[in-house]
Amino acid sequence: MTDATIFNEKDGTTCTQAAGDTILRAALRAGQGYSYECNSGGCGGCKFELVSGEIETLWADAPGLTERDRKRGRHLACQCRARGPVTIKAATAAEYQPKILPKRQRAHLLATRDITHDIREFRFLAEQDAEFLPGQFAMLDLPGVESSRAYSLANTGNRQCEWHFQVRRVLHGKGTHTLFEKLAVGDDIGLDGPYGVAYLRTKSPRDIVCVAGGSGLAPMVSIARGAAESGLLTERKLYFFYGARTPRDVCGEALLRTLEGYGDRIVYIPVVSLPGDKDEWSGASGYVHDTVAHVLPAELASYEFYFAGPPPMTQALQELLMVGHKVPFEQIHFDRFF
Ligand SMILES: Cc1cc2nc3c(=O)[nH]c(=O)nc-3n(C[C@H](O)[C@H](O)[C@H](O)COP(=O)(O)OP(=O)(O)OC[C@H]3O[C@@H](n4cnc5c(N)ncnc54)[C@H](O)[C@@H]3O)c2cc1C
Ligand code: FES
Repeated sequence: MTDATIFNEKDGTTCTQAAGDTILRAALRAGQGYSYECNSGGCGGCKFELVSGEIETLWADAPGLTERDRKRGRHLACQCRARGPVTIKAATAAEYQPKILPKRQRAHLLATRDITHDIREFRFLAEQDAEFLPGQFAMLDLPGVESSRAYSLANTGNRQCEWHFQVRRVLHGKGTHTLFEKLAVGDDIGLDGPYGVAYLRTKSPRDIVCVAGGSGLAPMVSIARGAAESGLLTERKLYFFYGARTPRDVCGEALLRTLEGYGDRIVYIPVVSLPGDKDEWSGASGYVHDTVAHVLPAELASYEFYFAGPPPMTQALQELLMVGHKVPFEQIHFDRFF
C-alpha cells in the first residue's frame, strides 16, 4: 500500500501514513498528540470518527470499542489503516505529543534470564540508540505472530542500543509462546517505539510511589532506575510496591537492591494476595492497593504515583487515589496491560 494522508478535522493537522503503519502510529510519528494509552486495541483511548475516505480495520472485535461505539461508527486509531486520503475527527492534547518520536527498527535477541518461574527478561540489541523515557513501552513484531504486542522497557535509555523487557508467560498466548519457546539468541524481531505517556516526571518535587502488579514489573523497575540514575532520590523517597498472587511470584527486590539508596530512600514492599500458611509468607497480604493506602506515611495526595499491571488492579488504584483520597489526576500515571 502507498502512503496515505490523514487530515484531522478536530485540530487541523495532517500527517502521512507510511505503508504498514496504523493511523495512530503515523500521527505519533509525526509528533501529533493523538489521544491514546495502550496502542493494542484494549483501552478505547484512541477512538475517532471517519468523516471521508476509506479505512481498513485490523481487529474488528477489539475490546476497546463498545457496541454503542460501533453503532455510532467509531473506530480505533491503533487498529485502523487509511486506504488513501482520509479526513477524521480524533481527540488530541498536548500531553500525548511524543517527547521522543517513535521509530521502527530491527533488533536481535542478545540474552535472556529468568526473574521468576514465569517472568523472563529479554534483552534486545537494536540498530540505533535506545531512546526512551523510564516507564515507556515498545511494540514488538515477533516472527509468526500476526499483530504487534506491547511490552514495557525495564532498563533506561542508553547509547548501547539495548532494549530490555520483562515478560510474563501467558497460557495459550501467541506472543509469549514465541518469546519463551521459539525465539533464540541472535534471532531478529521488529521493534517500534517508544510509546506511552506514563513516564517518569523528573520535574515533580514529590516523593514517588511505584505499584507493579504481576507482569507490571518492568515499567516500575525502569522508573526506579531512572529516578536513581537522574539523582532524584538524593532528595526524595521512592516506595516500590509489588503485588503478587503467591509467595513464589514475588520479585523485584534483587533488581532494586543494585540501586543507590536501596533500604534507605528506596523502600520495597511486596504484597501477596494468596499467602498460604505462616511459614510460607510473613509479609503484607491482601490486595496491593489496600496496602498502599495503609503503609504510606503521608497523605496520598502528596505523592507522584506510577502503576502498571492488570486492569482490575489499575482500576482499584485509580478509585482509591482519585475518589477515596482526591489525588489530582496530573499526579497519577499508569499503563493497563490488556
Ligand atoms: C502498554 C502495555 C504494556 C505492556 N507491557 C507488558 C510487560 O512489560 N510485560 C508483560 O508481560 N506484558 C505486558 N503487556 C501485555 C502484553 O502486551 C500481552 O498482552 C501479553 O504478553 C499477552 O500476549 P500474548 O500474545 O502471549 O497473548 P495473546 O492472547 O495471544 O494476545 C494478547 C494481546 O494481543 C493483542 N491481540 C490479540 N488478538 C489481536 C488481533 N486480532 N489483532 C490485534 N491485536 C491482537 C491484544 O493486545 C491482546 O491483549 C503490556 C500491554 C500493554 C497494553
Ligand atoms: S490506544 Fe487504541 S485502544 Fe488503546
